[in-house]
Amino acid sequence: MDMSSSVGPQYQEATKYVRGRPVPQAPGWAAAPPPYKSYEDYLEYVELPEPVRDGGRSIWELINERRSERDYTGEALSVEELSQLLWASAGLTGELEKTELRAVGSAGALYPNETYTIVQAVDGISRGVYHYDVREHALGMLADGDYSEPLAQACLGQTWMEAASAVFVWGAVVARCAWKYQNRAYRYLYLDAGHLGAQLQLAAAALALGSCNIGAFFDDEVADLIGLDGQTEVITYLTAVGRV
Ligand SMILES: Cc1cc2nc3c(=O)[nH]c(=O)nc-3n(C[C@H](O)[C@H](O)[C@H](O)COP(=O)(O)O)c2cc1C
Repeated sequence: MDMSSSVGPQYQEATKYVRGRPVPQAPGWAAAPPPYKSYEDYLEYVELPEPVRDGGRSIWELINERRSERDYTGEALSVEELSQLLWASAGLTGELEKTELRAVGSAGALYPNETYTIVQAVDGISRGVYHYDVREHALGMLADGDYSEPLAQACLGQTWMEAASAVFVWGAVVARCAWKYQNRAYRYLYLDAGHLGAQLQLAAAALALGSCNIGAFFDDEVADLIGLDGQTEVITYLTAVGRV
């Protein structure tokens, strides 16, 4: 199939950095949108326990053992496990001048991906759609109830997801990256999301939990489920986690 005139190659070509061509200059930081999203109207607010920041299993063993797993028992996660998974992927780990740095890097330290969690079975936390409040290490509820079936259907009918205990969804605020990188930002939104999913999988392996990354989804349906417009904030990636 000749794709040379279609949108993929056109995008790749249009957003290349080429030696000898000027790299588009970013406007000053004054033009930067806020690095955090804030909601005024969470239905519930769940402060998470402090994550564990030391010890644990060898990174080499975890890399060697990591596999995508889709056959979950449906048993609940503990709130400590959920806390650890969120921190190990999207949580704060340091500071450089005035920028708060996170467990996973981001192009230009702009962190365009917001983390949402669909809680399907977590002890002590009601089922529902939550937004991860990074700075407070807390979850704010956006919608109450069991979304396991519509979520799996929005992921092209991947019904194995229904037995996951939690599904992490990343939505990238395009302007947070595009003010600096313009159209090249779309590369970075997805690269950043890939790092988040990869590190979450290693964290799940460290907790002896099964996980699987998900790139096959009806974009607008997942966005709708979280309450996003799917344009200013686009769904980039998901990871399902469950007991195996
Ligand atoms: C970008 C990306 C998207 C993926 N999307 C899906 C998906 O939608 N559904 C699924 O079951 N697995 C998905 N996977 C998991 C792959 O199928 C899996 O990583 C691959 O088969 C290799 O197996 P391993 O992860 O166990 O090493 C995805 C993996 C990646 C990296």
